[in-house]
Amino acid sequence: MGKTILITGGAGFIGSHVVRLFVKKYPQYTIVNLDKLTYAGNLENLKDIENEPNYIFERADIVNAEEIFVLFEKYSFDGVIHLAAESHVDRSIANPMEFVFANVVGTINLLNAAKKSWNNMEGKRFYHVSTDEVYGSLGDEGLFTENTAYDPRSPYSASKASSDHFVRAWNHTFGLPVVISNCSNNYGPNQFPEKLLPLFINNIITEKPLPVYGKGENVRDWLFVIDHARAIDLIYHEGKNGETYNIGGHNEWKNLDLIKLLCSIMDKKLKREPGTSEKLITYVKDRAGHDLRYAIDASKLQKELGWVPSLQFEEGLEKTVDWYLANKEWINNVTSGDYQKYYKEQYEERK
Ligand code: NAD
Ligand code: DAU
Repeated sequence: MGKTILITGGAGFIGSHVVRLFVKKYPQYTIVNLDKLTYAGNLENLKDIENEPNYIFERADIVNAEEIFVLFEKYSFDGVIHLAAESHVDRSIANPMEFVFANVVGTINLLNAAKKSWNNMEGKRFYHVSTDEVYGSLGDEGLFTENTAYDPRSPYSASKASSDHFVRAWNHTFGLPVVISNCSNNYGPNQFPEKLLPLFINNIITEKPLPVYGKGENVRDWLFVIDHARAIDLIYHEGKNGETYNIGGHNEWKNLDLIKLLCSIMDKKLKREPGTSEKLITYVKDRAGHDLRYAIDASKLQKELGWVPSLQFEEGLEKTVDWYLANKEWINNVTSGDYQKYYKEQYEERK
């Protein structure tokens, strides 16, 4: 049926893959991409679909309640897939309030707008995209399940945990039909080069130091971004109201092992002597409050909705490296402006 779906944060990394998937897979839907275009939002990420007849872009700030309500009035959305957020942990340590505004206030504004405009909740859905970081940090053993108690420990994860709670509160108190997913670390094309993988790929290309926080012993569970987008599609259409679904790759890597694998792939791709990229590894001051290990149990999503990741990690990593090597202009464009100065300051502080 001809639904109109609002996707927030669609110009960012994950959002752009979700928008593309929905625009292409559901020509009968109208997809409205709402994005403020912060440093992390880039319309170049959607060049290939920007002229599709079922795609509309609206530049707006979710912190501005009035602006958001006007858009709900204008389009009478049938559903919302909410990804807009400040997403980088290091930035949340440097500037927590921006995370409170975008992630907490922004989410509440969307919940309020949906509640106000959906007189009849039948067939409506508010899907909140969240993170595994809300569960805190694991030791050597165990996995996060949907029943793991919340224990956020960075300003970023605290803001996301808070937004998850508000989404559940609007479900419980006002009957808003909601669904939430909590996903592990994504990687793939179009990720802003301040996160580990794209930053290190770019630094290897440009022969800059690779700043490994602490001893590089922290563990993350990596998932290819398109597999996350596929899960979002499935949960949006088939997930149960009021439920939470964990999404993860069953793909844990200690940072240093991952970085060494990346270095060896980059040496081959750039036709450099084996060991060249590893020489760029530089141990720097650890991230404050650095969570040791995240790992997701995604069996609920697998059992109930039949989702499994489609891509082997080494294949996904090579695809990602190939994409960055073929898109150096994209890297230059998104890192122009204030980013170089910001990165230099961060790096100097950590040395
Ligand atoms: P991103 O930083 O690449 O993109 C965020 C997007 O939100 C950008 O386009 C930005 O312009 C937009 N935005 C930020 N503040 C806004 C505001 N006030 N109003 C409107 N738009 C605004 O982030 P990402 O990595 O694509 O993450 C997307 C979502 O998925 C976030 O909610 C994040 O918490 C969640 N998530 C990310 C990961 C990951 O590994 N990257 C994993 C799990 C969950
Ligand atoms: O787990 C999901 C989360 O994954 C998402 O919710 C976040 O939005 C996303 O940014 C990501 O958070 P992380 O903090 O895990 O990702 P990041 O790429 O910043 O760091 C990955 C690991 O690499 C982490 O242990 C810190 C380390 N690191 C990171 C950077 C940027 C380094 O050692 N050096 C670096 O320069």
